[in-house]
Amino acid sequence: MLDKFEIRVLRITGLLIIIFFFSILYVTGKRKVDVTECIPYDKAYAEPRVTKIDDKTYQVFAVAGMWTFEPSVINIPPGAEVDFFVTSKDVVHGFNIAERNVNMMAVYGGISKTTVKFPETGVYKITCHEYCGTGHQNMQAEVIVDYPKP
Ligand code: CUA
Repeated sequence: MLDKFEIRVLRITGLLIIIFFFSILYVTGKRKVDVTECIPYDKAYAEPRVTKIDDKTYQVFAVAGMWTFEPSVINIPPGAEVDFFVTSKDVVHGFNIAERNVNMMAVYGGISKTTVKFPETGVYKITCHEYCGTGHQNMQAEVIVDYPKP
């Protein structure tokens, strides 16, 4: 038989579990956390390009290789939401945009995907943060967020 004290401990434990569970749900919704996805490989992703869906929505197909990213310069307007699809044509590289909290791996035969908003103008460095050989430290690209030139 459980005594009063044990019942109280069980109730408090149950309550804490419920609070914990709902606070995780709340924070996930509130912060709009975008979890990096791995999507099935297709040759179409290995073609470096920037695709404009509409004025505020872009897709970037980035291909990492020793020791560059293609495309090396990505131009988008402020307020754009960008889907990044990242792959590699050789070894494992990293794909990091520190100021936008992007941290992905670029892997041959795999596609990493994340969605990022760029609300403000600026130049955002993309860097490789996975050691990939002698040119690793020079491996970078940039996202230039600016109003289109008329
Ligand atoms: Cu690519 Cu380090």
